[in-house]
Amino acid sequence: MNIKENLILAKKSRLRQAWLTAYDYPTARLLDDSGIDLILVGDSLGMVVLGQKDTIDVTLDEIIHHLKAVRRGVKHAPVAADLPFHTYETPDQALASARRLVESGADAVKLEGPLPDQVALLVLNGIEVIGHLGMLPQNVRDEGGYHRKGKTEAEATALIAAALELQNAGCCALVLEIVEEALAGQISRQLDIPTIGIGSGSQCDGQILVTPDLLGLQPWFRPAFVKSKTDLATPFQAAIKEFIRETKTGY
Ligand code: KIV
Repeated sequence: MNIKENLILAKKSRLRQAWLTAYDYPTARLLDDSGIDLILVGDSLGMVVLGQKDTIDVTLDEIIHHLKAVRRGVKHAPVAADLPFHTYETPDQALASARRLVESGADAVKLEGPLPDQVALLVLNGIEVIGHLGMLPQNVRDEGGYHRKGKTEAEATALIAAALELQNAGCCALVLEIVEEALAGQISRQLDIPTIGIGSGSQCDGQILVTPDLLGLQPWFRPAFVKSKTDLATPFQAAIKEFIRETKTGY
């Protein structure tokens, strides 16, 4: 059974998807051993690993470098990878970029925005595609921030139409980022493929988070919608400080 058939079956059986991001071997292995449903090598890489201010400058080569590390750590979960900004502007470019991700170990690729032609060509070539609507981080500079989507009727209508278009083009799932909760619920009920929410409330068919946000590893930046499950930055720094103290005082 391919990823899409599995995801649709899970949705029919009301099984929610729990997805997380990874960018390296140990994190991927820990997530996989914990039973996560899918691991995404997201272009959040730029912000949470490379120290950039947004996802815009992440390159295909950088995603591939991290994807290969993640792939080595995963035995069970499907591994998806983001197509970075400017790597899928035409259907042909999307296919060339997605093929490089698949050759590097991706079971699926994710792209942002209402681009049914890109999705259809990838699917025709046997590549599983995850759509991404709502707040699109690759547009953050144009939009001047991370703003909630679907507040006006026009925006809601356009989002519903785009979601249906992406499903019809062949997407296996749809990430909804910072979308009004009721609208995310409405889209979820209208689609056969699962919606995976991030900052879009509890009515989606699953949730995805950036793993360092979930683990409280970046106390200097936490999106408003993230409820960290732990605060790993504190024991992390405590261990480092202990090492420094022991080393300097000779134990
Ligand atoms: O880049 C990323 O990590 C993502 C998810 C958080 C949805 O796109």
